[in-house]
Amino acid sequence: MGRSIFLLISVVLVAYYVYIPLPDAIEKPWWVFREATLIKIGTYLASFGELLGINHFMDTMQLFMKFQEVPPMSDENVTVMETAFDSVPVRIYIPKRKSMALRRGLFYIHGGGWCLGSAAYITYDTLSRRTAHKLDAVVVSTDYGLAPKHHFPRQFEDVYRSLRWFLQEDILEKYGVDPRRVGVSGDSAGGNLAAAVTQQLIQDPDVKIKLKVQVLIYPALQALDLNSPSYQEGLHFPILTRSLMVRFWREYFTTDQGLEKAMLLNQHVPMEFSHLLQFVNWSSLLPARYKKNHVYKNPTPGSSELAQKYPGFIDVKACPLLASDNILHHLPLTYIITCQYDVLRDDGLMYVKRLQNVGAHVTHHHIEDGFHGAFTSPGLKITNRLQSQYWSWLIKNL
Ligand SMILES: *[C@@H]1O[C@H](CO)[C@@H](O)[C@H](O)[C@H]1NC(C)=O
Ligand SMILES: *[C@@H]1O[C@H](CO)[C@@H](O)[C@H](O)[C@H]1NC(C)=O
Repeated sequence: MGRSIFLLISVVLVAYYVYIPLPDAIEKPWWVFREATLIKIGTYLASFGELLGINHFMDTMQLFMKFQEVPPMSDENVTVMETAFDSVPVRIYIPKRKSMALRRGLFYIHGGGWCLGSAAYITYDTLSRRTAHKLDAVVVSTDYGLAPKHHFPRQFEDVYRSLRWFLQEDILEKYGVDPRRVGVSGDSAGGNLAAAVTQQLIQDPDVKIKLKVQVLIYPALQALDLNSPSYQEGLHFPILTRSLMVRFWREYFTTDQGLEKAMLLNQHVPMEFSHLLQFVNWSSLLPARYKKNHVYKNPTPGSSELAQKYPGFIDVKACPLLASDNILHHLPLTYIITCQYDVLRDDGLMYVKRLQNVGAHVTHHHIEDGFHGAFTSPGLKITNRLQSQYWSWLIKNL
């Protein structure tokens, strides 16, 4: 009797801790539930390990995810190889079929909150080889230094170096890429880096070859207001909760938990940088249907000390939404995917709005039944749908 009561209480406690309320619109809820539960259990174990002083949270998470790595294997359609671009490791996918003309080139940047992920993960490897095959394109899937070992601006700089290397005339020629048809693309933190390097490139007089398109798949674009409606609604969204996203942001800049505490309270932008808040003001930048009943409050000013120590979070290289209109105006053709059930939804929506405001060319797909990670979730119909849309947009525009 005593034992069964103990068992019952344990089951209820475990169920309580791993329970994740899922929006009705999501396809195959059990699948998403399983993924979200695995991540949740992983984060609990990683937190526990950190509490005991055994291992850094993100190092444990990296270990858990290592099983996703696959070697660079060529198949009947695509040659796959690994090399380094200016000492940054990359995986390159080249179609095997003969081509008379030069090919498209796509530079891909994986996600994982600047802490996790790799071009070698099976999801990214599969995506890149299929993209190479479907588009008859040379795909370069880049790696970059990850937190907690490396912090901003290392991630940005690695990706930028690797991209600049690719954009050299003789390198493009070596891989048979048409210099007029090169694009960048990335998801989540990779979308953040894609947006940031694209902005940097248009201001770089040393790079003669310019990008034709950029694709941003549910990108993270700002760390100034972590209470936009999607953040508020996403306290318990599957896969990426608000607290995990805030943790990723903080790790991008520092191991100092003080910054994370201030970010969780949305009190980290000091008074002297409050003029930047206009660029992330969801009250003016978000269409009414996404604001719902949320009431805009100017974020409470934070201490100047944090911003002096970690200026990354007010740096446009980490927060591309802070770019001036003049920069946005010169961006290449842009394709942005946002998902309804995603804390980063409003970042993408605000970027779309700012691009539209300056008359930049932007295609926007909002996925009503989409959630963070839907672009790379093997076996889901939504993933096939998103990837097909992505390929058809690239076939038309790159
Ligand atoms: C190679 O391409 C053909 C034709 O598109 C396809 O049917 C086949 O599945 C591809 N092979 C691999 C390993 O993807
Ligand atoms: C944000 O926009 C609203 C109006 O849309 C305005 O009242 C508010 O002052 C703005 N706040 C900032 C910080 O720009």
